[in-house]
Amino acid sequence: MKKVVAIALAGLLAMSLIACTQSPKANEEAKQLVVAFTPPAHESDWRVTLSESVKSAVAAAGWKLEFIDGDCDHEKQIEAIREFISMGVDYISFTPGYHLDWDELMIESKRAGIPVILLDRNIEMPNRDDYIETLICADFVAEGEKAGKWLVDYMQAEGRGDDEINIVEIQGSVGSGPATDRMNGFRDGIAGKANFRITQIKDGNCERELGKTAMESFLETGERIDVVYAHNDNMALGAIEAIEEAGLRPGIDIIIIGVDAIKLAFDAIIEGRMNCTVECTPVYGPMLVETILRLEAGETVPRIQHPDVLVFDESLYKNVITELPNRTY
Ligand code: AHR
Repeated sequence: MKKVVAIALAGLLAMSLIACTQSPKANEEAKQLVVAFTPPAHESDWRVTLSESVKSAVAAAGWKLEFIDGDCDHEKQIEAIREFISMGVDYISFTPGYHLDWDELMIESKRAGIPVILLDRNIEMPNRDDYIETLICADFVAEGEKAGKWLVDYMQAEGRGDDEINIVEIQGSVGSGPATDRMNGFRDGIAGKANFRITQIKDGNCERELGKTAMESFLETGERIDVVYAHNDNMALGAIEAIEEAGLRPGIDIIIIGVDAIKLAFDAIIEGRMNCTVECTPVYGPMLVETILRLEAGETVPRIQHPDVLVFDESLYKNVITELPNRTY
């Protein structure tokens, strides 16, 4: 009898030990969060990849995504966020196409207890930090600066470091954070080279077609152009088309620098039609999910989170041929 009781007790002990070693969450259903996201538009390959990255990361986390494309319409984005608040989603994330006008909505989402995470671009409002959990974005100043430094190094390596260099700049999109920062950063990067002059500037709104039109009008002036600095690769690719149509050789007669590091830019560099691209990763989905998980666990997250900024070219920095297989966008 004593032996039977001892066996029964050992069995009970083993069962309770198994129960104790399982985390309390293992027995619960994982929380089904509803995350809402609105991008400003789908103007570039980069932007499309960002939206896809958010969609797949949220799905992989087992959460639901509410998604509304801003379609280049500021009012549409405002309406989207108003709708997310009335749906009572768990998290709102957005990339503002325009940095102002968000005050009222941010106050409303705070009142509704919905945390807000900005992706890629910042907003301006009084006491902004009281309303935004974090901003996940590239260091746009560093991107511009690295583009400028690359040009200095490249011209030096080509034996043209002391030549008069005329640079045209295609910005995207004027008034946005990336445009201002990439513009200023680039000037810091070439500071100290008085012989490097930015002679013409146009806005290309981050679109390939507008990059092409901007380049056509630069060429029409008849001025000698040595370098194109485009604030994104799509505009750089548009500029390449215009240069080729004008009978010149992009990458040789005119040096081409872009930003984003999309696959198409890698291809153009390998073909010798472009010279350099500075990475601005759009793969923000996993960072967004990671941030939400940390907030769910009650952790505080940094006010701003930047991915690394890498520079790709054919000879001086990260090599496009070896990196091409790693490009997912
Ligand atoms: O805000 C980031 C910029 O927006 C990317 O460089 C560009 O391609 C996109 O449209």
